[in-house]
Amino acid sequence: MRSFPSWLSLGLLAVGSNAAPYQSFDKRQDAGKLVFAHFMIGTQASRTSAADYDADMQKAKAAGIDAFALNIAKDSYTTDQLNYAYESAGNNGMKVFMSFDYNEADIYFGAGDVDVVAQYIKDFAGKEGQLKVDNKVFVSSFNGDDTDTHRLDPQAIRTAAGMDLFLVPNFHAGRNTDISGVDGVFNWMAWDSNGANRAPTAGANVTTSDADASYTSWLGDKAYLAPVSPWFFTNYPSKAWTFPGDLLWYRRWNEVLALAPRFIEIITWNDYGESHYLAPADDDHDTTAQAWTNGMPHDGWLEMAQPYIAAFKAGAKEPTITQDKLVYWYRPSLKAGCSFDGIDTIQDAVFVVALLTKAGKLTIKSGDNVQEVDAPAGASAHQVAMGTGKPTFILTGGAVELSGEGGLEIAGSCSGAVNLNAFVGVVSG
Ligand SMILES: *[C@@H]1O[C@H](CO)[C@@H](O)[C@H](O)[C@H]1NC(C)=O
Repeated sequence: MRSFPSWLSLGLLAVGSNAAPYQSFDKRQDAGKLVFAHFMIGTQASRTSAADYDADMQKAKAAGIDAFALNIAKDSYTTDQLNYAYESAGNNGMKVFMSFDYNEADIYFGAGDVDVVAQYIKDFAGKEGQLKVDNKVFVSSFNGDDTDTHRLDPQAIRTAAGMDLFLVPNFHAGRNTDISGVDGVFNWMAWDSNGANRAPTAGANVTTSDADASYTSWLGDKAYLAPVSPWFFTNYPSKAWTFPGDLLWYRRWNEVLALAPRFIEIITWNDYGESHYLAPADDDHDTTAQAWTNGMPHDGWLEMAQPYIAAFKAGAKEPTITQDKLVYWYRPSLKAGCSFDGIDTIQDAVFVVALLTKAGKLTIKSGDNVQEVDAPAGASAHQVAMGTGKPTFILTGGAVELSGEGGLEIAGSCSGAVNLNAFVGVVSG
């Protein structure tokens, strides 16, 4: 059971009059499903008004995303950007909450920053854009139990903030962190890994569902904030590796529908540097990352997420498909000629997820490679080996005839700076 301090129990009693007090356990577990997207304030630090946030708020809301998790550190621009983001959220009927970054290094929040964190919470808690869950101010983090100097102390923050918080930090299963003072925990392990923040190997393979299992058994009846991410590729001089992407965006959504946690967080909305953005590629203000993000749209992944988000909120196990479309993605070149950390875990393939209201015949061509399959009604994933040039996608015999060409030429080998980011597109009627 939860062991909240007594003043929190009083808070629960105070809201009890509006809430249905005698829901069954199952009903409480299913209530209030929410979808978040991790939003890097750091990649948008040059914004100058609330209006600069409107397009993000509107686009995310239209896709069914309930709130942005605003990732912040102690940067000089943090307060201004939070003001803009909260105001824009309020203007657009969206919600936001703060995700305090407890990464190592002084610019991030540390154990000594309890009052700084509490002050941010107090400054923004009353704004219309603030996400509240169970009538409490929702607060999250990135990291927070790595080391004693960068440890998030839930009880100290609650006391300093002096208000009811719904606290869901990014603590790590398996570290024996005390979770008696939190309402839930956010898991960042959105990619299969080797358990040490690199791509898996045959001998060391922690899958996303392994991570779900560790978290859910650790959390008991506390809320689980599960991650969903499409991709991971980063190529900075000091930070260069890939996790296996391929059909992750399809597989993970199906996992999440089956698991049905209370909350999910898309990683990310706009972390361009790690190639898992859904926001427009041309909004990347990280000049280094532009080398692998320019001309590499991911909007199609947001379109693909929409029927899954609708299903997640409805407690359904299959995506809610109302429009026939083919979502495709592929890298700009074959692997030949490149070596890169994690490259052995990805395939030279063009991937297609068919979202169909009626079965049809799908033909995918890439260079000389052709794949013809019967695609069922519902969501199904397909692939063909990569060839050179632009791949083509054709659907016949379904609810609509679809045909289209990939928006980027595939090169036969990988030369120059390695780019394992994905080009994502949609063929729809
Ligand atoms: C890790 O395990 C998953 C699930 O069994 C499998 O699909 C994947 O290929 C494995 N990865 C590696 C590198 O062995």
